[in-house]
Amino acid sequence: MRAAVFGGGYVTVILLISIVESQALDLLRGAGTSQNPLSAPKVHCWCSSYPNATLCTWPKPPHFPTTHYIATYSERHNQASTKECHLLPPGSSSSEKFWICQLPNLKLLTDYIINITAVHSGRSSSHLTSFMLEDIVKPDPPVDVRVSPTNNRKLLVEWSPPPTWTNLAIFPLKYQIIYQWENKGIRRSVNLGPYENTTVELKALTPGRPYLFQVCARELLGLGKCSDWSMPVKITIPRKRL
Ligand SMILES: *[C@@H]1O[C@H](CO)[C@@H](O)[C@H](O)[C@H]1NC(C)=O
Ligand SMILES: *[C@@H]1O[C@H](CO)[C@@H](O)[C@H](O)[C@H]1NC(C)=O
Ligand SMILES: *[C@@H]1O[C@H](CO)[C@@H](O)[C@H](O)[C@H]1NC(C)=O
Repeated sequence: MRAAVFGGGYVTVILLISIVESQALDLLRGAGTSQNPLSAPKVHCWCSSYPNATLCTWPKPPHFPTTHYIATYSERHNQASTKECHLLPPGSSSSEKFWICQLPNLKLLTDYIINITAVHSGRSSSHLTSFMLEDIVKPDPPVDVRVSPTNNRKLLVEWSPPPTWTNLAIFPLKYQIIYQWENKGIRRSVNLGPYENTTVELKALTPGRPYLFQVCARELLGLGKCSDWSMPVKITIPRKRL
C-alpha cells in the first residue's frame, strides 16, 4: 500500500518507518509531492449518439485512490450556465478503469468548456477542454457483421447499425468497409464506401485466401469521426464454385 502511494520512495519508507514512523511519513509526503505532482486528468470526450449522449472519460489514477473530482461544464459564451456533470466512478458502470462524466442535453452548434479538476490532499489540478458537439460525434461500431459467399462468386457483407445510436431515423449513418489479407507476409488492405445501405455485394475476391472484414459507422452528413472498426470477421472464399 505504501509502495503504491509513494512510488519511488519505497526503499526509504522501510528504512525510515523503522526509526520514527510519523516523521518518516511526513518526510515522504514532501518527497511524494515533488516526485508525483498531482497530474491533471487526461480527459477524452465524445458523443456516441447525436445529439444526446455525450461522455467525458479519464483513467482511474493509479497512485491516488483518494483523489476526487469536480467536473463542470458551461457554454463558452455564457459562464453563468455552469452545470455539474453526472459523475460515475470506476466500477459503478461498465467501466472498471475509467471515470465517466455524462453531459446530457447539450445544445447544438454551441461551444462548451469542460473543467475536470482532480483534488487530492489539498492540492488540485484542472483539465480544461472545449468542444462543439458536432465535432466530437463518434458512433459505436456497427454490430452483427456477417460475410457470406453468394452463388455467383460474389461476397455479401451485411451488418447492423450500432444499437447505441438512438436517433437513426433523424440522423442516419453511413458506413465504410475495410478488408485485409496477407500476401507473402505483407499485409494489404482495401477501403470501400461510404455506403448508406447495410448490405453490400462485393466482386469476386481470390478463392482460397483468408480475408478479414470490418465496418465503421459515421454520421451521414460527416459530423465527427467514423466509429472504431467492428470486430474482424474472417472469411475464406471457397476454391470451388458453390
Ligand atoms: C436521446 O433521444 C432519443 C429520442 O430523441 C431517446 O429515445 C433516447 O433515449 C435519448 N437518449 C439519451 C441517452 O438521452
Ligand atoms: C475549474 O474548476 C475548479 C474547481 O471547481 C475551479 O477551482 C477552477 O477555477 C476552474 N477553472 C476554470 C478555468 O474555470
Ligand atoms: C440495399 O441493399 C438491399 C439488399 O441487397 C437492396 O435490395 C436495396 O436496393 C439496397 N438499397 C440501396 C439504397 O442501395
